[in-house]
Amino acid sequence: MTVEEVRVARYPAGPVRAEDFEVAGAGAPPAPGDGQVLVALRGLGLNAGMATRIGAAGTPYGPGLTIGSVPASDAVVEVLVSRSDTFRPGDLAVRPRSPWRTADVADAGELRRIPGESADLPLETHLTVLGHVGFTAYTGMVHLGRVAPAETVYVSGAAGGVGSCAVQLAKAHGARVVGSAGSDEKVGLLTGELGVDAFNYRHGAALDLLRAAAPDGIDLFFDNIGGEQLEAALEVLNFRGRAMICGLASQYGTAGAARGPANYARLIYRELTLRGFAVTAHEDLRPRFEREVGKLVREGMLRSVHTSVVGFERTPDAFATLLAGGNSGRMIVTCARGM
Ligand SMILES: NC(=O)c1ccc[n+]([C@@H]2O[C@H](COP(=O)([O-])OP(=O)(O)OC[C@H]3O[C@@H](n4cnc5c(N)ncnc54)[C@H](OP(=O)(O)O)[C@@H]3O)[C@@H](O)[C@H]2O)c1
Repeated sequence: MTVEEVRVARYPAGPVRAEDFEVAGAGAPPAPGDGQVLVALRGLGLNAGMATRIGAAGTPYGPGLTIGSVPASDAVVEVLVSRSDTFRPGDLAVRPRSPWRTADVADAGELRRIPGESADLPLETHLTVLGHVGFTAYTGMVHLGRVAPAETVYVSGAAGGVGSCAVQLAKAHGARVVGSAGSDEKVGLLTGELGVDAFNYRHGAALDLLRAAAPDGIDLFFDNIGGEQLEAALEVLNFRGRAMICGLASQYGTAGAARGPANYARLIYRELTLRGFAVTAHEDLRPRFEREVGKLVREGMLRSVHTSVVGFERTPDAFATLLAGGNSGRMIVTCARGM
């Protein structure tokens, strides 16, 4: 077996491009040691936030992943060889920080087994609603945001990986949901398939579009995008409204000089709460998330929204496409044996 991996080939100078990466052979996989397993990649989830880590001091992104580094993100893997008591060949698991590599040796403790009772769910569910992006949406929308029935919720980047989970969670909790996205096709996904209100933020000033979509204001804002959309949301948040800051995709590549909201005085007049969060700091919530969201998925209240790209060698292209907005839902790369 020859292993392939994706490496950083050069630092992005502007928007991230496929050519910023190379797909290279990495030789034969090493033999697993005691307590380790050899795993093959079945499906790789891509995260927009990864872009912020690619670069060195003085480059538009980063610092973090230097040239030659192999990025990592969550993946569904299949155990090929096991030297652990907890896994057998053929077992499927989620590896939260899987290097972008077709096969790899992992400590068994890094893997979360996909339990037998989840066998009825499509595998991609473990990279979407039940995976990293679903857990992120749950943390911000349900746990910290405390979405409540009859509230009006606004989600920016609503048709993306995290966003599509956030709008579905808010709707499942009885809220009225407005989402924004960057194309009419994505707006169609939100209004048609996910059943929420939505607007294309490219069709005018964010504030005008949001006011038209939510004339009585909003109670909770889940922000994936930042910039103009954060400013617009602060303008229309009702008294004691809450803003959950999940990401700021519009500001990635600005070398740390992200634009903050000019109207943050509204935090005082309207007693608003601006709350950032890092999902990795909320691992204690996972059992509750898996129980509650697993139930919603089985009841048909939440579903996997994703764009699949077939072929590991297309990972760089898929990542650049994700950052350019070419995905609906989570961007997933499916590998040789597929999902
Ligand atoms: N806080 C946490 O712990 C945590 C964890 C995971 C992810 N995140 C953050 O959550 C956000 C969503 O991540 P994701 O992986 O699910 O990505 P995603 O939403 O699937 O993809 C990013 C989307 O951002 C939009 N976008 C890109 N550039 C933009 C720009 N200049 N202006 C406006 N919109 C732009 C595009 O959608 P449109 O076509 O609709 O513009 C693009 O599809 C990211 O900001 C990420 O960093 C945070």
